[in-house]
Amino acid sequence: MKKTLIRGGTLVSGTNISVADLLVSGGKIIAVDPGSATSYDELVDATGLYVLPGVIDDQVHFRQPGLEHKEDLAHATRACAKGGVTSFLEMPNTKPTTVTVDLLHQKLDMAAQCCLVNYGFYIGATPHNVAELKRARRTPGIKIFIGSSTGDLLVDQQDDLERIFAETTLPITAHCEDEATVRANAARFAGIHDVAVHSQIRDHAAALIATRQAISLAKRHRHRFHVLHVSTAAEIAEIRDHQQLITAEVCPHHLFFSVDDYPRLGSLIQMNPSIKFRNDNEGLWQALLDGSIQVVATDHAPHTLAEKQQPYPASPSGLPAVENSLALFLHQVNLGRCRIEQVVRWMCEAPAAVWNLKDKGHLLPGFDADLVLVDLQSQRTIRNQEQQTKCRWSPWDGETLTGWPVMTMVGGQWVFRQREANDQPWFAAKPLGQEIQFDHDGPGYWGRTAATI
Ligand code: DOR
Repeated sequence: MKKTLIRGGTLVSGTNISVADLLVSGGKIIAVDPGSATSYDELVDATGLYVLPGVIDDQVHFRQPGLEHKEDLAHATRACAKGGVTSFLEMPNTKPTTVTVDLLHQKLDMAAQCCLVNYGFYIGATPHNVAELKRARRTPGIKIFIGSSTGDLLVDQQDDLERIFAETTLPITAHCEDEATVRANAARFAGIHDVAVHSQIRDHAAALIATRQAISLAKRHRHRFHVLHVSTAAEIAEIRDHQQLITAEVCPHHLFFSVDDYPRLGSLIQMNPSIKFRNDNEGLWQALLDGSIQVVATDHAPHTLAEKQQPYPASPSGLPAVENSLALFLHQVNLGRCRIEQVVRWMCEAPAAVWNLKDKGHLLPGFDADLVLVDLQSQRTIRNQEQQTKCRWSPWDGETLTGWPVMTMVGGQWVFRQREANDQPWFAAKPLGQEIQFDHDGPGYWGRTAATI
């Protein structure tokens, strides 16, 4: 079996940094620092580079099946490979929506044909599909749209929510914006075409009410629950009282954009939950640093530029991000706002723990050889025309970031290489991604000790 030796890189875990060699074979990491006498078939000189476990993005919308004019699995997973994302968990608001075990398995079969990185898919809740939610196994968990967003998935009635939390066992995650609040606000602001009004329609109260409601359901039913894309500082007090049941996530756009950016970026930053205020950016960043929020994910939600450029409210909500998320955080490392170990904790180790991913999230013998080599000094500018995502734009177009992925490995095979900013990016020609395995009886985030998350 082919052996690859990655020599001289700086290995990063959530708690530690050390220069070490890494030996990979048969899709697994087989040794850390195997010694100078070790044999290998391929040698990669990683001197001066950092070696991170591959990023695990636990919230993406890849649009296949049914919305392939916006995105598809082949483009999206090339974007992942370029961004250092080696595993993704995708949301059920495709067409058709992923709300039965059959449709879930169809998505998995489709992914096996075209994914460059590892894949998993949530099953979506409806008011009527508890039996399907109970049968599903090849999934990280159940997604509930407590507030509606792109697509028609919605469960906003208390008795339906009670039944889902009471009768199912898989972890639950939710889009938390209160539907009644959003509808009432939308009626108040009807006829206004300035996209900035989006943040008044999907306001702070909408987010807080729904997050409170979901957390209360989780606690009463003692059900594992993950709060997606926290957007307000006010929600943090709710998620901080986690009772070893609640975990939470924040997305780059809620950390780095505020309503002050609407004049510059318009509907490109129209998102659900909406972009909020600068003090929310600060509060969310602090919550990440102090551990109240455990996970960073993107909510990669591509729409075509033409769709986004329609006047509000015809413009859809969502922006693409998998391609640049790791670089955005490596840039923060360079700015001194966080440490690279923290980035590994938020983007690799924590999502693996939250969703009980088997053999992922760590650069340790026995774990899958999913990893990314990053050059912390490399300076590159994000350009729309260089984006791999099918929609070919980024809200960060024109921004220069320092710290970029330069090589990505999935299951022991290289899928992306671009050592210098001016090199043409290289991608593996074959779909090398594997179906992610979930250990549904595993300890989850709170069942692990700090050292083993
Ligand atoms: O802005 C959003 N767009 N938020 C979501 O939750 C869904 C997403 C989409 O699928 O377009």
